[in-house]
Amino acid sequence: MSIAPYIERRARLIKMMGRGIAIIPTAPEVMRNADTHYDYRHDSNFYYLSGFAEPEAMLVLIAGDTPQTILFCREKNQEREIWDGHRYGPDAARERFGFDEAFPITQFDEKLVDLLGNQPVLYYPLGYNSAWDKRILRIRSAVREKVRSGVRAPDQIIDVRALLSEMRLFKDEFELEIMHRAAEISTSAHRRAMQFTRPDQYEYQVEAELLHEFCSHGARHPAYTPIVAGGANACVLHYVGNNAKLKGGDLLLIDAGCELDGYASDITRTFPVNGKFSTAQKDVYEIVLAAQAAAIAAAKPGKHWNAPHDAALRVLALGFIDLKLCRGSVDRVIEKEDYKRFYMHRTGHWLGMDVHDVGDYMADGKWRKLEPGMVLTIEPGCYIRPGGKVPKKLWNIGIRIEDDVLITAKGNETLTNAAPKSVTEIEELMKR
Ligand code: GLY
Ligand code: MN
Ligand code: MN
Repeated sequence: MSIAPYIERRARLIKMMGRGIAIIPTAPEVMRNADTHYDYRHDSNFYYLSGFAEPEAMLVLIAGDTPQTILFCREKNQEREIWDGHRYGPDAARERFGFDEAFPITQFDEKLVDLLGNQPVLYYPLGYNSAWDKRILRIRSAVREKVRSGVRAPDQIIDVRALLSEMRLFKDEFELEIMHRAAEISTSAHRRAMQFTRPDQYEYQVEAELLHEFCSHGARHPAYTPIVAGGANACVLHYVGNNAKLKGGDLLLIDAGCELDGYASDITRTFPVNGKFSTAQKDVYEIVLAAQAAAIAAAKPGKHWNAPHDAALRVLALGFIDLKLCRGSVDRVIEKEDYKRFYMHRTGHWLGMDVHDVGDYMADGKWRKLEPGMVLTIEPGCYIRPGGKVPKKLWNIGIRIEDDVLITAKGNETLTNAAPKSVTEIEELMKR
C-alpha cells in the first residue's frame, strides 16, 4: 500500500483549514454479544486521511506556520498480540504511515491539553460519538482553566466533516483503482448468482454464492447487507430476511456489492429464477432498463445532480401509463406524483468509502452540477404491490437495476457493466 495519497490528503486538509487543529477519531469497536465483537470497521474519514485500520486511534492535524500530523494509537503489547495479532505501536505506525509524530492513545488527554492551547479553531466531528464529544469538551474546559497563565482554548468549533465530505466526493486515481476492482469483484458475484440460481433454492443459498465470490477475491465483507429477494419480497425495499424458497416463474432481485480496501460497490440485478422472463415480467423490465439508460445518458459533467432522476422518471411514468398502472399524461403522473406508488425512492446516491457516501447534493439551494471524479449509483426500479386497479398479471413484480457510474471529462463510465442486464444477456448466461 502506498502512503503517498494519505500524506497528500492530510496536507490538502491542513491547507483548507488554514489555521487551527483537527481531531479525527476512528470508529469504536462494538460488542455483538457476550465477549464477541462485530467485525471491526474503521471510520471512513479517519482511514481516508491515515490509511490506518486499527481501532483505538486518533488523528490530530495542526495547521498554521508549522503544520504537524500526529497519530495516537495502541501501544505494542506482547500479551495482547499473542491473542489478537499484530499491532503497529506508535513508532512503527509513525514510520509506516508517514506521520510527524505518534504517541500511545493512553496519552491522548494529557497531550491534547497542550496541543489545544492557543489554537483559534477546533475542527472536530461533533455529534459523531457522544463519549468522544464529552471527552473532547472536557479537555477543552481543562485548557480554558489555564486562561490566567495566558493560554486560550479554541473558541470556535467547526465540523471537520464539511471539509472532508467535499474532498471525498471527488475520487482520486488511487481510489478509482480500488473502486474499479471492487466493481469487478461484485459483477462477477452477480454473474455467479445468476448461474447458480434455480427454482426451489433458498434466498440464503444465493447469498452464500455472492459472499463466496466477494471473499475469495479479497473483499472480506459486503459493503451493506445483501438483499436477495425472490418474488413479492422484491417489493420490500430493504428486505434482508433472505430466507424464502425461490419459485420458478418468479423474479429474483439481488442488491449486493462488496467492500474492498474500504471502498463500496453497489449493484442490483433482477432476473427470472427459472432463467426465462415471462411476457409481463419482460414488459416491466424493459421499462426499468430504458429508464436506467436515460438516467445514465443524463449523468454528465455540467448536468445537475437531479438530471438522471428526472430522466428516469419520465421513462418510468410513460411506462406506467402503458402498463395501465397510472392514468393521464406523463406530465400529470409526475406532477401528481402518481408514480410514487410504484417508484418511491430516488434514482441514486454518491458512492465511495460509504455506500451512501458523503457529499452535498445541493449548493446554494440548487442541485449541484455533476463534475469529473464524482461516483454515483443509478438505480431506477418498479415495485408493484397487489391491489387497487393494478392488472393482476403484474402483481408482485419488483425490479431494480443499479450500476455504479463515474463522471468523466467526456461523459461517464459505468464501472459495473460486466454484470449482464439486457434480457438476452441474462437469459443467455442462465442457459449456460
Ligand atoms: N444498496 C443500497 C442502495 O442501493 O442504496
Ligand atoms: Mn444504491
Ligand atoms: Mn444497492
